[in-house]
Amino acid sequence: MAGSQSRALADRSEVTRAARLSVAPMMDWTDRHCRYLHRLLSAETLLYTEMVTAPALVRGGALHLLDHSPEEHPVALQLGGSDPQELAQAAALGAEAGYDEINLNCGCPSDRVQSGTFGAVLMKEAGRVADCVAAMREVVDVDVTVKCRIGVDDQNPEDVLPEFLDRIRAAGCRRVTIHARKAWLQGLSPKENRDIPPLDYDLVHRMKADFPDLHISINGGITTLAEAQVHLDAGLDGVMIGRSAYHQPTDILAEADPMIYGSGQRADPVEVVMKMLPYIDRHLAGGGRLHQITRHMLGLFAGRPGARGWRRALSEGAVKDHAGPDVVLDALSRVAPDAEAAQVV
Ligand SMILES: Cc1cc2nc3c(=O)[nH]c(=O)nc-3n(C[C@H](O)[C@H](O)[C@H](O)COP(=O)(O)O)c2cc1C
Repeated sequence: MAGSQSRALADRSEVTRAARLSVAPMMDWTDRHCRYLHRLLSAETLLYTEMVTAPALVRGGALHLLDHSPEEHPVALQLGGSDPQELAQAAALGAEAGYDEINLNCGCPSDRVQSGTFGAVLMKEAGRVADCVAAMREVVDVDVTVKCRIGVDDQNPEDVLPEFLDRIRAAGCRRVTIHARKAWLQGLSPKENRDIPPLDYDLVHRMKADFPDLHISINGGITTLAEAQVHLDAGLDGVMIGRSAYHQPTDILAEADPMIYGSGQRADPVEVVMKMLPYIDRHLAGGGRLHQITRHMLGLFAGRPGARGWRRALSEGAVKDHAGPDVVLDALSRVAPDAEAAQVV
């Protein structure tokens, strides 16, 4: 027992270190193939799953939603839900499946999610969130964390956010990611809710001053590693990046290890493509489609010569019947003419 406890603690410190930079949970985007790719670009950055709902796991038995590769670590499972016991069961399943952290979604504004009373609407129910955190902590050894907004609708974030943080901290949450804008639950689509409510980075920085023992990551609208570094230099513990990490994975992740963690080398996107090939082979051999993986690779050369040719060759070639690794090599020849020859030799 003592052995397993000390192992859990060591893992926690590694995950906390990784949380200096994270790739945001994004439905339909940060699936296991995307995370495998991101891991090749950065050995250190903390990765998040898409949101998996507790009812899907517990009532629906959809355990395949927990599938992931060992290479993805450190990787956090994001759960959606609002029933403490159900979330506890889902968290236990997640920890058993090997996730390094269980995160509760208190930031997603979509209608479907609102009707199930979870996501951003939970900003109105700090007590319930605290109960959920406590119930999950009871059953897992890994960290239970929260991703939230600064408030919803007509709430005053200056009042609501400290109260919310106070409650979840009292329930044992040690790490939180704050998307630095409100969610407006009526009238805006989920997409608009990621752009239209104004960002308030200052408030998140003030929360760090008020809750120095809480590990606080900031999220929302951060598009470069240099911007991330500014937030870290100003005292925040972590930065979470979503859309930019997905669309320009090389810009955000290839330099993350040396720049944010002071370790490793800058990853080379051509080498990353080569390292994806065996993974792609295994996926195809198991009956999967090429496009399921390569759709996450389209942005690898964003902003570099040949990027357009890479994108087009990959997106058009990968959806064809029986498309295989040759499509990837052909696309690569548009950005790195020597790489294909190197592969053949
Ligand atoms: C396609 C997409 C899906 C998303 N799905 C989730 C989700 O499942 N859970 C969650 O907490 N946030 C979700 N988000 C929000 C992101 O995690 C993040 O908070 C938001 O995009 C702001 O960060 P960014 O400006 O760096 O993209 C999603 C965002 C996008 C673009």
